[in-house]
Amino acid sequence: MSETSKIAGSARSAEATARRGDGVAAPAAQRRLYTAGEVVGDPTCPDPYIVTDRLHVHYGSIHAVNNVSLQIARNDVIALIGPSGCGKTSFIRCINRMNDTVENARVAGRVLLDGRDVYAADLDPVALRARVGMVFQKPNPFPKSIYDNVAYGPRIHGLSRDRAELDEIVYRSLERVGLLKEVQKRMHEPGTSLSGGQQQRLCIARTIAVDPEVILMDEPCSALDPIATARIEDLIDELAMNYTIVIVTHSMQQAARVSRRVAFFHLGGLVEVNETNRVFTNPEHKLTEDYITGRIG
Ligand SMILES: Nc1ncnc2c1ncn2[C@@H]1O[C@H](COP(=O)(O)OP(=O)(O)OP(=O)(O)O)[C@@H](O)[C@H]1O
Ligand SMILES: [Mg+2]
Repeated sequence: MSETSKIAGSARSAEATARRGDGVAAPAAQRRLYTAGEVVGDPTCPDPYIVTDRLHVHYGSIHAVNNVSLQIARNDVIALIGPSGCGKTSFIRCINRMNDTVENARVAGRVLLDGRDVYAADLDPVALRARVGMVFQKPNPFPKSIYDNVAYGPRIHGLSRDRAELDEIVYRSLERVGLLKEVQKRMHEPGTSLSGGQQQRLCIARTIAVDPEVILMDEPCSALDPIATARIEDLIDELAMNYTIVIVTHSMQQAARVSRRVAFFHLGGLVEVNETNRVFTNPEHKLTEDYITGRIG
């Protein structure tokens, strides 16, 4: 089966599952047609924690993110979905200024975290990235031991006074991602010696070890098998109690399973933001419907 038809199949089954939950999809004819720049649903929220305001990202002549204004509340889990190349990664990389490290990226517009402009001249991007952690598509443990992977952030940010405190942070972080039992006897083996799913949980432990406020996840399960994926999804549910989570995913089941809101991107623009159930049972925009049912992708 091709990747596209797999995604289309999963989109259809997620939609079917969601429909059984509640509601009946509106007839397609009633849905809005695309008007460039228009956003349907509600991209705002009360007391927003993360705000992007008319955000643009360019790479040379490529306009990857086009005028995206989106608000995310504290402890929300928002899934960003949309066809490949629509700007999801470029968008989340603005929130912790990872685009600073991309040579030809140009960012315009504003990003606020808890009311502060993350692009302010006096803001330290390294400190920002401790507050806004990131988990990547491919697990990327540092070439260090399991222990040192998790201890890395607390060490560079001076979060522990002595070895006992550092041990406690490392063990607690591994426990929270459900990895401690599996690795307790091999803390000094390389992080890369773990399975893919374990490596991804190690990377999440490394992210939470510095006590961030926000976790950005860019397709965190796309390199994992279904069992490892299910474990990460359970973990996201638990993490959602303490963190604000922005997750990019190509899996409609995953978006339906873990998120509270969904933002659908298309060609760099934000098209629809709605509660997850609404998006999968009764999308407001024709393009959203076309995407979740696999007609575009
Ligand atoms: N470093 C770069 N230099 C030039 N163009 C880039 C760069 N990174 C991304 N782009 C382009 O910007 C656009 C948006 O890319 P981005 O990676 O944000 O999309 P995406 O929605 O995350 O896609 P995918 O689902 O495939 O990961 C694409 O046209 C891509 O080719
Ligand atoms: Mg991407």
